Amino acid sequence: MSKTAVKSPFTPEQERTLAAWTKKYPYVNMGLIEALRSVQDWHRMISPEAAAYVAELFALPFNRVWGVATFFPAFTRWKTGKKRVGLCHGLTCHLAGSDKMKKCLEKTLGVPKKTATADGKLSWEPMECLGACEQAPALLVDERLVGKATEESISKLLAPTVKP
Ligand code: FES
Repeated sequence: MSKTAVKSPFTPEQERTLAAWTKKYPYVNMGLIEALRSVQDWHRMISPEAAAYVAELFALPFNRVWGVATFFPAFTRWKTGKKRVGLCHGLTCHLAGSDKMKKCLEKTLGVPKKTATADGKLSWEPMECLGACEQAPALLVDERLVGKATEESISKLLAPTVKP
């Protein structure tokens, strides 16, 4: 299926999806972002191998694709959990107790930042200001903002996915 010289880390169906992104938009960057979003969804990260395949598919230099993949926080070079929890470490959230939330996340999930749980269900990571300072300390759970976080709300939030 692959028409590139780079070894493909994707299934034939995924290759078809990526190839479709090359034709979908008039501007290459729009298709590229969508392609990288797909890769992040499938692999829970963007590896250099995946970026090299995408670069060749889009006929772009590797560094251009890698530059995009390393610029946006939505794309990671580490394997996220299926559910991603972002903890704001901006100044307002810090003053409102984000450090306590950090300890709570480490304890509840049993993993340090940027590390998925053994079952791959969850990971957490520090994030820059989420633009919700009035709700500090703030979390982003996948794409849902959770404001005024407490240790209790974190436990509740993660309870369905964290085994006792
Ligand atoms: S500092 Fe946390 S949302 Fe702004």
